[in-house]
Amino acid sequence: MAIFFSRMAFLHTILFVALSFSDCNFIGVESLGINYGQVANDLPPTEKVLELLKSYKLTKARIYDTSPQILTAFANSGIDLIVTIENNALRNLMDLQQALQWVTTHIRPYFPATRITGIAVGNEVFIGGDTALMANLVPAMASIHAALAKLGLDQYIHVSAPSSLAILSESYPPSAGCFRQELAAVMPQLLQFLDSTRAPFWINAYPYFAFKDEPNNISLDYVIFNSNLGMVDPYTKFHYDNMLYAQVDAVIFSMARMGFGGLEVRVSETGWPSKGDENEVGATVENASIYNRNLLRRQLANEGTPLKPVRILEREKEIKSELCILY
Ligand SMILES: *[C@@H]1O[C@H](CO)[C@@H](O)[C@H](O)[C@H]1NC(C)=O
Ligand SMILES: *[C@@H]1O[C@H](CO)[C@@H](O)[C@H](O)[C@H]1NC(C)=O
Repeated sequence: MAIFFSRMAFLHTILFVALSFSDCNFIGVESLGINYGQVANDLPPTEKVLELLKSYKLTKARIYDTSPQILTAFANSGIDLIVTIENNALRNLMDLQQALQWVTTHIRPYFPATRITGIAVGNEVFIGGDTALMANLVPAMASIHAALAKLGLDQYIHVSAPSSLAILSESYPPSAGCFRQELAAVMPQLLQFLDSTRAPFWINAYPYFAFKDEPNNISLDYVIFNSNLGMVDPYTKFHYDNMLYAQVDAVIFSMARMGFGGLEVRVSETGWPSKGDENEVGATVENASIYNRNLLRRQLANEGTPLKPVRILEREKEIKSELCILY
């Protein structure tokens, strides 16, 4: 299971890694990445971000656009980068000619010096009720993929679309996982596309939001990976000791209901707010530290979820070795 930290946790996570993992060796960190958001004050310069990533041996990052400055700065860094196409560009990119133009301008000049491994088409387009945008998603993904194929890049760069957990109408217990009824038409198209291009399903999962809604009913320890009794799914009998893994399995069960239980799920964002509005419970630097530290520790052990305990060999690894041979 590859996991990317949230935008809001970016700096905090970096600091945290520095404080807590300084004397550990980083075998296994390959599956962890950093979301490098640009919408914030006091962002460090890209060179500084690269230094930090390298010094903590984190090898993956995701950005929320295709900033030429960042793409250039990441050249020859050895860091795998996922780039994002903004939601408002999807409509035009349904057109193959435009998609080809887009890939030629935004990807081709930087690859392979910059190891672009994925393109996120939009972000969380299934929430917000914009049905036109939702309908444009899979056609835009298909055009981008076709454009990559035309340029011989499709074997190196996968195309997917990060979704919010709000796409599920049920997530508890995980085996009851189900996509929202409104998505009954578009979701099979997305899953079919991912299956046929062997791309992973990306989910942005923030257990914090579930906790915030029901702080009296959900144990904080369960949500921040502290030791706790956990819960047993009454149907599968799987034992869950943390909410993030339960959420990931709920997504897999939802996909399985549509016949696509074999797709790989990757966590494209997670994290914990270090500061919230006044009435928000749990949003403290300490709780965010605990969440990040526990998640790092669990993922350093290359852990999967109860439903998919063995981490599926990441295709990206094969891609890396191919790249080594080619270049
Ligand atoms: C706690 O959550 C469970 C499961 O969602 C629900 O059945 C129960 O009613 C909730 N209890 C309270 C006190 O909110
Ligand atoms: C973590 O969140 C809980 C729930 O709101 C709060 O009671 C607790 O004080 C927080 N712990 C720390 C160390 O910030």
